[in-house]
Amino acid sequence: MALRALLTKRAPTLASGLGPFASAGGSGTGWQGLCHARGLKVAALPDLEYDYGALAPAISGEIMRLHHQKHHKAYVSNYNDALEKLDAAMAKGDVAAVVRLQSAIKFNGGGHINHTIFWKNLKPVNEGGGEPPHATLGWAIDTDFGSLEALVQKMNAEGAALQGSGWVWLALEKERKKLLVETTANQVPWPPVPSSHLISSLLSWCLV
Ligand SMILES: [Fe+2]
Repeated sequence: MALRALLTKRAPTLASGLGPFASAGGSGTGWQGLCHARGLKVAALPDLEYDYGALAPAISGEIMRLHHQKHHKAYVSNYNDALEKLDAAMAKGDVAAVVRLQSAIKFNGGGHINHTIFWKNLKPVNEGGGEPPHATLGWAIDTDFGSLEALVQKMNAEGAALQGSGWVWLALEKERKKLLVETTANQVPWPPVPSSHLISSLLSWCLV
């Protein structure tokens, strides 16, 4: 998946819009209802702000649907399942189970967080997406990487170097006011560096 096709003018932040975790609905049934009764905040699969096919030909509708309805949905479901088990283990004082569940919480919660950010980084052409970055972001890319083409090469190279699954991120380091490319393995949630502030993201590989 080429980076150029994914760059948009939009600059979302982690704090903007709907957060990746939502309270269970008051009318929830089954385990969601139980979670709500216990006061647990469960995750919910967010709706996309555009149709699956709206980013074609840069990203096909089939790929978008796969990542949303299969990958992201599974992360949400598995996170909520692990959360319920964690709640039960904590209630029983089952320390071994509490410890064992941490990896599932981190992996699936991270997958949910990362995908939620990713959807917000994309925009259809008829809504202003698909344009090369310009103005402040375009200038910063030229300053920190030499050119947009050099940035594309760097992000694609770092994505190709990831083993297994992971993400490549373009971020702004707030303290130095400098753009940087970061990679995170598997579904380690963004941000990997506390001082970073998200500018945009590129999905590298995402395996269920
Ligand atoms: Fe995915």
